Amino acid sequence: MATPALSLRHVSAFAADVRESLTKAGQRELPSKYLYDEVGSALFETICVLPEYGLTRADARLLEKHGEEIVSRLPSPVQVAELGSGSGKKTRWILEALSQRQKTYYYPIEISPFALAACEKELGHIDMVSIVGYEQPYLEGLRTVAEGRAEEDHLLVLFLGSTIGNFDRDAGETFLREMREILQPGDALLLGTDLEKDVELQMLAYDDPAGVTAAFNLNLLARINRELGADFDLRCFRHEALWNFAERRIEMHLRSTRRQTVHVPAASLRVMLDEDETIWTESSHKYQAEEVPEMAARTGFRCEGQWIDAEWPFAQNLLIAE
Ligand code: TRP
Repeated sequence: MATPALSLRHVSAFAADVRESLTKAGQRELPSKYLYDEVGSALFETICVLPEYGLTRADARLLEKHGEEIVSRLPSPVQVAELGSGSGKKTRWILEALSQRQKTYYYPIEISPFALAACEKELGHIDMVSIVGYEQPYLEGLRTVAEGRAEEDHLLVLFLGSTIGNFDRDAGETFLREMREILQPGDALLLGTDLEKDVELQMLAYDDPAGVTAAFNLNLLARINRELGADFDLRCFRHEALWNFAERRIEMHLRSTRRQTVHVPAASLRVMLDEDETIWTESSHKYQAEEVPEMAARTGFRCEGQWIDAEWPFAQNLLIAE
């Protein structure tokens, strides 16, 4: 694989984040945003087509089936910003429905340049749709889009795939409130939320038998090796997903299978891990359908509509800024 030159700024921010999260008192962590380098983005696309991971298909089915109705409830004219577009495949249904009634600007906001390039390729040729990508963190990108809009334009923000579930519940609400502050009354947020389901089904989605999810999680250590010169031995770590009943979330961990010492030269860091100690890489909170309108009301939105998939409990929620 050709390794693109890494900017000094990226390396030092990555090193600082790794240092801080790995040396935290108590539970060690790594920030999940670093899962998505070129390898990680490709593995995540593969997760999305696994039979055990019903989430992405449910998300897409709802957009295909109800895209026109969702769009019919939006103010006009409306421009579209998407937080964490990934490859952008599901977004086609919304953009095509919108392009029937207006010329549309679509602004995917992504920290992964690989995902952004895939998205521009996937959606770059829809009639009446112009695409302008921003390689920025979510809120920064959204601010850029909001500041650049024409006075008569409304915004539709897409936050699909239940990415909201990757925030702790409080932080998720804070994030909705921060988004609301950037928006104008009448602007819309289409929010995807994965719903609570049978625990065994839920677990399989995050620990598939072919081991793709394990590879995705372990790749975070491989990335630290590649980019920060670390010496994680991936054979001495095991992917683990667990259901936290109290918090109603899946937690993803990397479990050290023996006592070991790891060096991360770019972070001037040496970490001693005990046998069975875990590094927590990601959480995925699950919701009940009724929770979403309540969250909306607490954060300055009203829930205008909710669509739930019949096969895989997942909800598409259309929130309007009050
Ligand atoms: N946003 C995805 C989710 O919570 C990310 C994800 C899927 C993930 N499988 C994973 C993150 C495994 C870490 C490990 O569903």
